[in-house]
Amino acid sequence: MKANVLTVTDGRTDKTYVLPIDAGTIRAMELRQMKEGAEDFGLMTYDPAFMNTASCKSSITYIDGDKGILRYRGYPIEELAEKCTFLEVAYLLLNGELPTDNQLKEWQNEVKHHTMLHETTKKFLEGFRYDAHPMGMFVSTVAALSTVYPEARNVLDAENRRRQIVRLIGKVPTIAAYTYRHSKGLPYVYPDDDLNYTGNFMNMLWRMVEPKYAAHPVMARALSVLFILHADHEQNCSTNTMRAVGSSQADPYLSVAAAAAALSGPLHGGANEAVLRMLDQIGTKENIPAYIEQVKAGKLKLMGFGHRVYKNYDPRARIIKWAADQVFRVTGRNPRLDMALELEKIALEDEYFIKRKLYPNVDFYSGIIYQAMGFSPDMFTVLFAIPRTVGWLAHWDELMRDTEQKIARPRQIYTGVMERHLPANRPAIQASAAV
Ligand code: CMC
Repeated sequence: MKANVLTVTDGRTDKTYVLPIDAGTIRAMELRQMKEGAEDFGLMTYDPAFMNTASCKSSITYIDGDKGILRYRGYPIEELAEKCTFLEVAYLLLNGELPTDNQLKEWQNEVKHHTMLHETTKKFLEGFRYDAHPMGMFVSTVAALSTVYPEARNVLDAENRRRQIVRLIGKVPTIAAYTYRHSKGLPYVYPDDDLNYTGNFMNMLWRMVEPKYAAHPVMARALSVLFILHADHEQNCSTNTMRAVGSSQADPYLSVAAAAAALSGPLHGGANEAVLRMLDQIGTKENIPAYIEQVKAGKLKLMGFGHRVYKNYDPRARIIKWAADQVFRVTGRNPRLDMALELEKIALEDEYFIKRKLYPNVDFYSGIIYQAMGFSPDMFTVLFAIPRTVGWLAHWDELMRDTEQKIARPRQIYTGVMERHLPANRPAIQASAAV
């Protein structure tokens, strides 16, 4: 008879253990009972980079990496991208259901109510050098909000958590836009309540002397679609950071800042910027084969390719290609698109990439669209961070409600010197001595 158990025999002791299997996993703590002797700590798993470890139970986002499936709360990403606004999707991720018309109006108003920054936060941004990287400014300014809202520390209060969640979702576009204006030496533009989430963001970025800014509807919709695609992606590096920092009961501003810092790396959200720099470095289509050879020789990475979870085409990359078409109809074609398409074509036919199941990921095409919209590459990861803030917060709230969770604290395998001592004749430092 089939049983949902794993039976293992410990070769060191010949003892057999029966471990329950639940949702395709065994509990790592079950291994602790497997000891060589009474003094033994018990068996652990060793899993650098969490290649095969589930760190939580989550009902937010589902990915099947082999089939190229991505769903938020059960809804396919393709349907959400086509038929929803970003704030509807944000509501869905946070609350588990799409909003009714009334709930949506209320939610939009709530978010709009929280778009302004405290004037001291604006001044804080002014302190950065003119050439500061926008992602560094973004991370630091989000962290600085912690000093403006000290009550946010009360993370065990669900109502208080919700207030900070709305605040953060309202304020991240403003912070992002201000990092851009700062780097261009332009005056900051205050949020405009008449505009929707992406329209208002574009207003804060690009309004000059006109009395009212009107975003191009195609561009505003494309940005909204890009935001939807980037809103969540289950236990990626930055979300795992959000959960790890949040598990210490740090406040959400500091936790989001930590998550954004994790996002900034070129292997994660920083890849969109790295793709553009790579395309510039390659220069022309003729140079692509030589570049691919260097990648295959292990000298370079093809940025925007590969994924820990997707071993198939990233479904987000497909939708981004569609968004690119929409944008390029307005802006004209970004010549880098032809380079990217050629790079993808060559890579997808090459044994190196086929064998390793390396496909374009979300970052491969997003930068090309952002650039056509008028963003410089150093803004790309900030554009990723705005919508991903929603995902981080949805996971943070889920974590705080999860009675099984505790402070995140992995084990290690110690490989250092076991014990040694300072020379016995070495004197103790006296408090009066200069140190
Ligand atoms: N270019 C060339 N080879 C690659 C690439 C790449 N972009 N990605 C993976 N490989 C190779 C890797 O060298 C390894 O080869 P081998 O088996 O011969 O040692 C094999 O493929 C497996 O790769 P891995 O490094 O074990 O895979 P991972 O799951 O640890 O890394 C990754 C995933 C996304 C960090 C990696 O694919 C990568 O560095 N990609 C480029 C950066 C990038 O585009 N990041 C954005 C990820 S999607 C957006 C997000 O979630 O942030």
